[in-house]
Amino acid sequence: MPITFAIVAGARPNFMKVAPLLRAFDCAARHDATVTLVHTGQHYDAAMSDGFFRDLGIREPDVNLRVGSGSHAAQTARIMLAFEPVCLEKRPDWVIVVGDVNSTLACSLVAKKLGIAVAHVEAGLRSGDRSMPEEINRICTDAISDLLFTTDELANENLRREGIPAERIRFVGNTMIDTLVRHLDQALASPLPDGIAEREYAVVTLHRPANVDDPERLGNILRALEAVADRIPLVFPAHPRTQKNLEHFDLAGRLIRSNALRLTPPMSYLQFIGLVARSRFVLTDSGGIQEETTFLGVPCLTMRSNTERPVTCRIGTNVLVGSDPDRIRNAAFAVLNTHSSTGSIPDKWDGHAAERIVDVLLSVPCAP
Ligand code: UD1
Repeated sequence: MPITFAIVAGARPNFMKVAPLLRAFDCAARHDATVTLVHTGQHYDAAMSDGFFRDLGIREPDVNLRVGSGSHAAQTARIMLAFEPVCLEKRPDWVIVVGDVNSTLACSLVAKKLGIAVAHVEAGLRSGDRSMPEEINRICTDAISDLLFTTDELANENLRREGIPAERIRFVGNTMIDTLVRHLDQALASPLPDGIAEREYAVVTLHRPANVDDPERLGNILRALEAVADRIPLVFPAHPRTQKNLEHFDLAGRLIRSNALRLTPPMSYLQFIGLVARSRFVLTDSGGIQEETTFLGVPCLTMRSNTERPVTCRIGTNVLVGSDPDRIRNAAFAVLNTHSSTGSIPDKWDGHAAERIVDVLLSVPCAP
């Protein structure tokens, strides 16, 4: 019996997770498997989407739902409305969703209610912070998924604690790291920004609504960054939400005038990984970058009070520094005063997670 899959990608952090899955399907021995690639259009700017498809060699999506931005309810609802007819027409045996963005939850809900089996890649991550929209997306997606592919043992424990039957959980490793392993040499060949020398700069990313939607909190974080920039140049590729808020709160001018804190548009995947891999350290509130820095052995200071990726703190290079400006500054100075970076790489973050996932999907009996 031929077996059919729909793989969903919607937002920037999804693209590096679907790329190795598509490749693994292409390389799999079963040639009767067909894969429909669905882009929800949650991220749509060239810098947030097309550039990633190009860098990662992802083929044109078979379907683009073009939902765009909106409130959580509006965006999630638009994705659901647009994805349902796709499922009805294609009738895939499995819908594969990745990560924790609104597209992940919207598409898993649609699929499950149509009786289509759902596989969640990067299942079981929990921050314990239900004020994060992604935490709600994770919990709800995992609760209805038929197969849950995890990146580490702590995720397995979370799922078991929530009563997910063990036979649905498969510990396979990290598809985001598959992409990093595959593209690292290419990324290291990409030029650094002018005037920036290897290991003599740090990288900043900031986009969580909790950090960038409140002018006081964003202003405090910028004060800390300015203090750090007195000691080491900072390169800050800014997410569109952050760019808009910096302008809206009238904070952008200050940054643009600062030579040491370089605000840039969002970078392509290769440029960004090349930048991170050669940096002295990273200051971020991203989820995925905590994992990428752990793999690369680059110190990471995460400007959040919790993380859904605690393995990066337990054995990797990640430290939670919250949003207090003194704490951020002191943590950055502490990194600058040490010269060795410690940390190890979690089990199965070896570049082969997607192959394991596809092996499982092609061998389980169809839709449970
Ligand atoms: C989404 C994810 C978040 C992920 C982040 C990575 C959810 C709930 N959040 O957050 O987990 O870490 O992506 O980037 O799914 N915008 C553009 N162009 C784009 C996309 C967005 O200008 O291509 C602007 C719009 O003003 C939009 C805002 O950015 O309203 C936020 O975009 P949205 O997709 O709602 O959430 P992100 O903050 O990107």
